[in-house]
Amino acid sequence: MKGVFLTLEGLDGSGKSTQARLLARFLKARGLRVRLTHEPGGGIGEVRTLLAQDLSPEAEYLLLSADRAEHVRKAILPALEEGAWVVSDRYLDSSLAYQGFGRGLPLSWLKEVAERATLGLKPRLTFLLDLPPEEALRRLEGRAKDRFEEEGLAFFRRVREGYLALARSEPERFVVLDATRSLEAVQGEIQARLRALLP
Ligand code: TMP
Repeated sequence: MKGVFLTLEGLDGSGKSTQARLLARFLKARGLRVRLTHEPGGGIGEVRTLLAQDLSPEAEYLLLSADRAEHVRKAILPALEEGAWVVSDRYLDSSLAYQGFGRGLPLSWLKEVAERATLGLKPRLTFLLDLPPEEALRRLEGRAKDRFEEEGLAFFRRVREGYLALARSEPERFVVLDATRSLEAVQGEIQARLRALLP
């Protein structure tokens, strides 16, 4: 594989999407080929509409996995094979954190499905924008919320703790960033962490 796969993870309101855009711009400015993408909807766009219904956690995860299977095969792997740097705003860790730690589905089942859905593809680095759930919910006030964002504090706490547990279990892949800081400070740390990988 010639390209480099990077992901951004974190609670809603953590600033992931902005950081992903800034990161893509930084890499492009260095003359690198970049593919900025996101989940859910990176593989099957309509999945976002399907996920808005009241679904069982299992159905929710299988829809997210169907989207991810297409995302990996049709977008991420082809871009990596062409030598691009792929920046994905959310990937499998979102499912482990939200559907696993948040909704209580067993991680063993999630990982078994994911192994096949993702063809075993793992990010080279995952930037976790860590934020206290109280702050995440405060930032979402006044915005139109989706089904996940409606869940409230207890759910957000489990998701955050889940992300931190995932980061502890794979310290060589995760970079945990304090997302309460300014956009510039967080982006500066992301770029600093990437310098060793840049050509
Ligand atoms: P977004 O706001 O980052 O586009 O994501 C939409 C919501 O989907 C967000 O609240 C997190 C949730 N989500 C999961 O619960 N599991 C997943 O695997 C993914 C990719 C997203």
